[in-house]
Amino acid sequence: MNDLALLLTPEGRALLDEVRDTEPARELAVATRLRREHPAELVSAALGQARLRQRAVAKFGAEDAGRMFFTPNGVEQSTRASVAAYRAGRLKELGVTSVADLCCGIGGDAIALARAGIRVLAVDRDPLTAAAARANAEALGLAGLIEVREADVTEVDTAGYDAVFVDPARRGGRGRVFDPEAYSPPLSWAVETALKAPRAALKIAPGIPHEVVPAAAEAEWVSDGGDVKEAVLWFGTGTPGAVRATLLPGPRTLLGRGLPDPGVRPVGRYLYEPDGAVIRAHLVAEVAEEVGGGLLDPTIAYVTADEPRPTPYATAYEITDRLPFNVKKLKALLREREVGTLTVKKRGSAVEPEELRRKVKPQGPNAATVFLTRVAGAPTMLIGRPLG
Ligand SMILES: C[S@@+](CC[C@H](N)C(=O)[O-])C[C@H]1O[C@@H](n2cnc3c(N)ncnc32)[C@H](O)[C@@H]1O
Repeated sequence: MNDLALLLTPEGRALLDEVRDTEPARELAVATRLRREHPAELVSAALGQARLRQRAVAKFGAEDAGRMFFTPNGVEQSTRASVAAYRAGRLKELGVTSVADLCCGIGGDAIALARAGIRVLAVDRDPLTAAAARANAEALGLAGLIEVREADVTEVDTAGYDAVFVDPARRGGRGRVFDPEAYSPPLSWAVETALKAPRAALKIAPGIPHEVVPAAAEAEWVSDGGDVKEAVLWFGTGTPGAVRATLLPGPRTLLGRGLPDPGVRPVGRYLYEPDGAVIRAHLVAEVAEEVGGGLLDPTIAYVTADEPRPTPYATAYEITDRLPFNVKKLKALLREREVGTLTVKKRGSAVEPEELRRKVKPQGPNAATVFLTRVAGAPTMLIGRPLG
């Protein structure tokens, strides 16, 4: 029996409950005690699963993670619940009632789809992963809506489903895979499959070059809490060629209007740092227009403006000082302002924030943010504070 099968037995489930809050430092002692009454294999499977569940809390929340089953790769590769729920909601709004989830992993997306009331065929070729997806559907009371199939997605007939969702494996043996043709299955297969389906969504790495986006697709970049999580290619949504950036929680969606690159302008009183999804979606011009601003430098995604105009798509700062790049001058200025908490942000600078902080030794009750960047090509430090 494999670890998962052991854990799904009544003895396995009881043991999982018993070890759920075991702290790493106590693992050895707990294992020694439990091995007196349970097979060693089961004890180590339960402790391993408890560790995976703890790791999964950040993605799935404590309640779900505490009931779900994971494989190490499965936790790593799964979509976080907030992002999966947003995507499922969009499919639901499009009128989708059934989805073939091709490459379902441990079921992160399948669960969100089912919770949106969508019927799901969840397919994964890895037996242990498919078994975990099945166990998760059952553990969360969604087995009625999720059918898990252990199969190669390239051999699955998806006719009869309103939509196809593909989340290819993007990590090879050595770290992340950047070439979309090295995805498993390759992006070209996923696109071909998407074009044949009534509607489709393909999850891809956010760093994908825009040239790779097929003309028939809408491309959406999604961030959660300011961190870019994924890009999605949408098919059959009636929006070919559209580009959007969606920020969670919210969702707040900025639609591309095909604006040309914003022009460079002198440093104004305010600096706007666009959200990563906006930058990846190449929608900095849309944000610059919204705040009435321009760029500090033609190659850097910092926007500057004369007025404070709150926008969800960028964090606004009031600039208090501007210095050429010079650590001594920065140190003197921070001392004068009694800045003890220094946030270092950078674009277009090779300086390591930690190293800079070490050199300037901030001390005092005040906080400030320093931007290491270029202004019209010249290495510059802008000091500012976030607008409340
Ligand atoms: C990125 S993960 C999916 C994560 C999932 N969306 C979630 O949120 O849990 C990709 C999965 O694709 C599976 N996979 C890769 N190639 C496959 C193929 N040709 N057929 C079926 N599954 C495949 C891998 O086993 C892996 O579990």
